[in-house]
Amino acid sequence: MKLFPKKQKESKPSPRIAVEKMQTYSAPLEGRRELLRLDFNENTIGPSPLVVEALSQIPRSAISIYPEYSGLKEAVIENLKGLQDKSNLNTSEIGLFNGVDAAIHAIFHAYGNPNDLLLTTTPTFGYYTPCAQMQGMKIHAIPYEGKNFDFPFSRIYKALTKLKPKILMICNPNNPTGTRLKAERILELARAMPTTLVVVDELYEAFTGDSVFPRIDFAKTQNLIILRSLAKTAGLAGLRIGFALGHKSLIERVGRVTGPYDINSFAVTAALAALKDQAYVDNYVSEVLVAKEWIANQLQNSGIRHHIDGGNYFLIWPKENASKIEEALKKSGVLVRNMNKKHLIEGSLRVSIGTKEQMKRFWEVFQKISFI
Ligand SMILES: Cc1ncc(COP(=O)(O)O)c(C=O)c1O
Repeated sequence: MKLFPKKQKESKPSPRIAVEKMQTYSAPLEGRRELLRLDFNENTIGPSPLVVEALSQIPRSAISIYPEYSGLKEAVIENLKGLQDKSNLNTSEIGLFNGVDAAIHAIFHAYGNPNDLLLTTTPTFGYYTPCAQMQGMKIHAIPYEGKNFDFPFSRIYKALTKLKPKILMICNPNNPTGTRLKAERILELARAMPTTLVVVDELYEAFTGDSVFPRIDFAKTQNLIILRSLAKTAGLAGLRIGFALGHKSLIERVGRVTGPYDINSFAVTAALAALKDQAYVDNYVSEVLVAKEWIANQLQNSGIRHHIDGGNYFLIWPKENASKIEEALKKSGVLVRNMNKKHLIEGSLRVSIGTKEQMKRFWEVFQKISFI
C-alpha cells in the first residue's frame, strides 16, 4: 500500500465556484395550456389580433436569415411617447432583450463583480437572486413592513448609504406583494448613491401607472435603469421580448454582454405589431381592473385573509394547507402559484387577475374547495 496515494485527477471540467454553489432555477411551466392559468401573471386572453396577423404573414425567407432590429427602438419610443408624454428619449437609451429576464441577467453580468453587494427587498421576484449568485455577489434583502407589506424605505436608504451596494433592485409594483413606491422616492434613492446602479423592474406598472419613467431625465440620472416587457399586458410572454431604458452608457455596457441575435425574428415582428396597437393593451388593462375590483369585493366580504395592491395579482391565505388547495384547484382546472418558502407570505397563494369571467370561475371553484 502506498503511504501517499496520488491525488485523483479531476475527470471532468469544473464550473465556476459561484455556479457550483447555485441551484437550478425552476418554475412549474409544463402542461398548462388547457387550464385557467392564474399562476404567472400573464395576459389571460392572448395578444392583439394584429400581432397574430403579422406573425402569420412572416415570409419564408425571414426564417432563414438572422433577425433584423431596425425600427424596433423607434417603435418603442413612439409607443412610450403616446403613453407617457415624453419626447426626449433616444434610441441609445433603449436596450432590447430576449425578455426582461435576459435584461436582468445581462445587467448583473455587466455590473456584478464577485463579492459586490446586491441590495433588494424580500419577498420579491425570484430571478434576481440567481443572477446575483452567478456573479458571486452577496445579497442583502430587507423585508417589506407591516401587514400591508409597505416598502421598507428608511431601512433601504440606510443600507444604501452605509453599505454602498453595486446594485439596488426595486420591483415596482412588487411581485408578489403588489407594493408600490412613488417615483420621487426612487429618484431620492438614486440620488443618494450615484455609484449604485438602481434597477427598477416595472413589469406591472401598467395596472396602476407606477412608473419612474415620466419623471426621469437620463442625462441627469445616470445610475438608473427601467425594465419593461411585452410579456404581461401585451400578451407576448411566449415570444420573449423586453426592454431596458437608461443612460446611454449603461445601455451600452449591458449591450456588451448580450448576444448579437438574442431576440428572434418572430418576437421582433410581434413586438412591432403590439407596440402599434396600444388600444388593445389599454382595453385589456381596463378589463383586468374591472375584474380586480370585483374580486377585491368578494375577498373583502368573505373575510378570508388576502392582500391586493398593485399589479395584476393578489395573495390569498386559504384556511387549510395552501399546497392542498393549490392541488385541488389544479384538479378543477385552475392554476395558481404557491408562495411556500417565500419570506413573510408563507401559506399564501398568488392568484393572477384576468377577466371578470375568469375571476368568477376562480372564485366559484375556490369557495367550493376551501369551504369559505
Ligand atoms: C417582476 C418580474 N420581472 C421580470 C419578469 C420576467 O419578464 P419577461 O417575461 O419579460 O422575461 C417577471 C415575470 O414573471 C416578473 O414578474
